[in-house]
Amino acid sequence: MRRQISTILLTAALVGGLTACGGGDEAGSGSDDGKITLGFSQVGAESGWRTANTKSIQESAKTAGIDLKFSDAQQKQENQIKAIRSFIQQKVDIIAFSPVVESGWDTVLKEAKDAKIPVILTDRAIDSPDTSLYKTFIGSDFIEEGKKAGDWLVKEYASSTDPVNIVELQGTTGSAPANDRMKGFGDVIATEPKFKIVASQTGEFTRAKGKEVMEAFLKSNPDIDVLYAHNDDMGLGAIEAIEGAGKKPGTDIKIITVDAVKDGMQALADGKINFIVECSPCSAHNSWNWSKRSTPAKPSKPA
Ligand code: AHR
Repeated sequence: MRRQISTILLTAALVGGLTACGGGDEAGSGSDDGKITLGFSQVGAESGWRTANTKSIQESAKTAGIDLKFSDAQQKQENQIKAIRSFIQQKVDIIAFSPVVESGWDTVLKEAKDAKIPVILTDRAIDSPDTSLYKTFIGSDFIEEGKKAGDWLVKEYASSTDPVNIVELQGTTGSAPANDRMKGFGDVIATEPKFKIVASQTGEFTRAKGKEVMEAFLKSNPDIDVLYAHNDDMGLGAIEAIEGAGKKPGTDIKIITVDAVKDGMQALADGKINFIVECSPCSAHNSWNWSKRSTPAKPSKPA
């Protein structure tokens, strides 16, 4: 079902993008076999979410009969810029990419616009005020995800007046999900002074960095009550650090994450993660909240 939704979204966006640049003067030629040629620049392979997202894009393109040119940027903006320039040179019909960070895209996107190749942003947005640089954005509302994480925390500690010490593992610095998940969560918890973020640092969305940063947090903060990690992978790395420090994840330190990948859901079932906000890598418009005690009854509002 999700794959179908994703295929429909991708195809609709592509068809929309191509229609919008129709009229006979567009440069896109891609291949001569009548197929649409899509150049896609992916962020990298930093997380389980990203792996699932890549699979969804590749499968959706195949189902839709699109000729996909796929490039992995290894979490580096310069690699994405190079990939976009190469797609322009190859005269693909359409370019899509998931921007590693929010800023710094105007120059290369103007080059795509000048070449009359439509661009679609997927998963992550950019902060350029010039919305003529891309046709559309297909992705989640990351601020809403952060708010959901904060709402759960507020409810969890509703009956307590004691201070709650929180540490935060941020995603990639400057990325839309890191900026927005931080903001959404921060806005909600700011309503109650008992909540205090005692440390907040990037774990780059990876398990290894999540573990390393959590080890440092544990050394400098003896009284951590809650960990808020911007994705499951960093939370899973942090669990290793917490166990290594002789504490019980989910009990001694409550853990909130985002994504709901398989390993995250297993940790939730094992009681090591307390709450996960789902961010679907397949259909960005379906999202659920997961905790061991509650059965998700209905999806949240579309982003
Ligand atoms: O942009 C989406 C985020 O990127 C996912 O939540 C995270 O796991 C990934 O790296």
